[in-house]
Amino acid sequence: MRAYVRCALVASSVLVATAVAAADSVKPGKRGSFSPDVDAGGDISFPADFPAGYRHLGTWAVLGEEGVADTHIVYARPKDVAYFRKNGMFPDGAVIIKEVLEAIGSGHSTGKAFWGHKGKTWFVMIKDGKGRFASNPLWGDGWGWAQFDPKDRSKQIAKDYKTDCLHCHVPAKAMDWVYVYAYPALGEKALRFTPEDARTGHLKAGEGHRVAPTSDASGATSVTEEQRKLATGKQLFDNTCVACHSIAANAHGIGPSLFGIIGRSAGSASGYAYSDAMRNAGVTWSAESIAKHLADPRGFIPGNRMGNMFKGVAAADQRESIAAYLATVK
Ligand code: HEC
Ligand code: HEC
Repeated sequence: MRAYVRCALVASSVLVATAVAAADSVKPGKRGSFSPDVDAGGDISFPADFPAGYRHLGTWAVLGEEGVADTHIVYARPKDVAYFRKNGMFPDGAVIIKEVLEAIGSGHSTGKAFWGHKGKTWFVMIKDGKGRFASNPLWGDGWGWAQFDPKDRSKQIAKDYKTDCLHCHVPAKAMDWVYVYAYPALGEKALRFTPEDARTGHLKAGEGHRVAPTSDASGATSVTEEQRKLATGKQLFDNTCVACHSIAANAHGIGPSLFGIIGRSAGSASGYAYSDAMRNAGVTWSAESIAKHLADPRGFIPGNRMGNMFKGVAAADQRESIAAYLATVK
């Protein structure tokens, strides 16, 4: 860890000069004066000074069924990192880039090791503290939000940040929508957001977040299997589903409220605009059908909108726990 911090700092002092030089070369009139990567109407282009003007913030490894499925490598400009380290927030104009790579793995002298292999996409966020582009659907909640075609970085492919991005960043709202705790380069002010359940040890593949066992006064653990399952289900729901679903009656978000979902027919909660596919699915929700929908959100009810937004829950025991938890929400 210490070695990592030291070499990251050395790299950053070299890179500051590059970032400044790139900003200076902006042609006035073509790009907006606010940021070299944003035009006067708020359209966002892929940062021209990447990678030379950027430093590594941190790396995510996203688990699939058979090990690491994707790596997400996150970058920012050294001056934005320095500002965050000092002030605990990103400055106006700050740029954050996330590169998503498909991972593959094989046996190595370190064990089964995976590496980022093929580019899948790029995400970019640009801080806007002044609400400059209120009429551009890529801007809002303090940021410009963009996604780029990995085969052709000149193609920006996000349409509306509210439907393309924001729902998944809700868990990070308190951190100005950025998962800052995963970026050691941002220093102590970011690390204080580290989730409690992430602080201890490693997870086994498929285990998801750790659930702290509840203890009675004597310190002995006194949870039944059923309680443990419900607690896991609630935690999984709060980590993943809550971005789009509430469990409060009639409180619809991106997805419908899941209050009283067991026994309800698909697409029947009043006040929510379902797709025709969901409304006409002819499915009655049970623990089994929910688990099937979560295993394959695209295929179980073909054409429903959740299939476009959410890749599902890979581990069968996690699907079961979520369904068990939802059965209690009534
Ligand atoms: C499926 C949910 C999901 C969607 C959709 C999504 N994000 Fe994210 N994003 C995340 C999560 C979770 C992280 C951090 C963990 C990770 O990368 O796995 C993240 C991280 C990022 C990061 C790195 C900085 C940070 O916030 O931690 C950027 C930049 C980013 N997203 C931009 C975007 C943009 C722009 C869009 C829309 C075009 C978008 N994201 C859509 C879930 C999502
Ligand atoms: C990124 C947003 C998103 C996430 C995350 C998400 N869903 Fe959904 N979900 C939707 C949308 C949108 C619909 C409505 C689909 C339609 O009308 O085609 C939906 C519909 C459903 C339905 C059918 C509801 C009904 O009234 O018929 C169930 C059940 C469901 N989701 C469960 C879950 C669970 C459990 C999770 C977490 C493991 C989850 N969803 C995660 C967006 C999401």
